[in-house]
Amino acid sequence: MTAFIDPKSVPQRKLYTGEYIPGIGMGTFGSDRFTPDQVSAAVAGAIEVGYRLFDCAAVYGNEDLIGEVFQAAFDKGTVKREELFITTKVWNDMHGKGDVLLSCAKSLRDLHLDCIDLFFVHWPFPNYHAPGCDGDSRNPNSKPFSVDEFMNTWRQCEKLVDMGLVRYIGMSNMTIPKLEAVLPLCRIKPVAIEMELHPCFQQPELFDYCIAHEIQPIGFCPIGSPTRPDRDKTPDDVADIQVPELVEIAKAHNVHPAVICLKWAVQRGQIPIPFSIHENEYVSNLKCTTEDPLTDEEMAVLKSIDKNNRLIKGQVFLWEGANDWEDLWDLDGTITK
Ligand SMILES: NC(=O)c1ccc[n+]([C@@H]2O[C@H](COP(=O)([O-])OP(=O)(O)OC[C@H]3O[C@@H](n4cnc5c(N)ncnc54)[C@H](OP(=O)(O)O)[C@@H]3O)[C@@H](O)[C@H]2O)c1
Repeated sequence: MTAFIDPKSVPQRKLYTGEYIPGIGMGTFGSDRFTPDQVSAAVAGAIEVGYRLFDCAAVYGNEDLIGEVFQAAFDKGTVKREELFITTKVWNDMHGKGDVLLSCAKSLRDLHLDCIDLFFVHWPFPNYHAPGCDGDSRNPNSKPFSVDEFMNTWRQCEKLVDMGLVRYIGMSNMTIPKLEAVLPLCRIKPVAIEMELHPCFQQPELFDYCIAHEIQPIGFCPIGSPTRPDRDKTPDDVADIQVPELVEIAKAHNVHPAVICLKWAVQRGQIPIPFSIHENEYVSNLKCTTEDPLTDEEMAVLKSIDKNNRLIKGQVFLWEGANDWEDLWDLDGTITK
């Protein structure tokens, strides 16, 4: 029999609106390694075992199949629509006037939904690269971040809320300088920021900034994305699940190190969105949030292993005149132009 983890036993997070949402979800980015069919089959299995939050995106190229899975689950009565919290994201080539609505309409159609729970701006600039392109490829039309351009995109997202097509809006791949520039201009505040978060990349300043502004951090690559495409790997990257202190804690709890990454994430307060097509993995990823918590001492050890190791560097979004990928992340505290 398939395992079932009661969604009521899974930790919840309170949004600034007062609504509670699941404290862990499932990612759906199959990338080069997993086919859309494998990803949608995993989503079907994940609903059955008790996942209630799914992180989708137009650019993942699988929303149509995932939508069929949602529809089948609603038809079968496995889950009611209002029991799921579904996010999606507008891709960089759909930031222009009128395009955000088109992107949202396509995601709604593909996902078989009347309303999206949380709609993200995937990256804060319209710099487009074709899925699967080489890490060295550059788009000559790429531009540095512009507050005006971003706000034009955000205004369209706000309109989606007004129209009842999405319930909440959020931002992804932001930095503190960019948030400082745009938050005061928002009519509707982002309810969440999606950002890379794993034990070797804890982003404490950005995480604390979000908490201080009552914006929920959602952590991507929570296990250190071991299956990300080779083009996103560099020789300096550290594998979270091989860090000795983390492996030691995993041994003490008799679990895979991946599970320790997720316990840490949930106990710290972000919402991790691990991905896996393997039932044993996605079951243990959800179950681990309901039992055998890490001790304060273990949380302190994990806090100390941060290596500031960003995995998704975003180099394919660089514009002409930019130095290197660090320019995307405003490391000197100002927006890099
Ligand atoms: N907003 C953004 O820009 C952005 C960027 C990147 C990702 N995301 C989102 O974040 C999600 C997660 O990121 P990710 O998929 O890159 O990385 P991840 O969740 O850190 O890593 C996924 C990989 O970890 C392994 N894994 C998962 N559970 C495991 C377990 N219990 N034991 C052992 N191994 C386990 C699986 O590899 P094996 O198959 O080899 O077991 C799986 O493919 C994505 O799917 C996507 O929804 C968003």
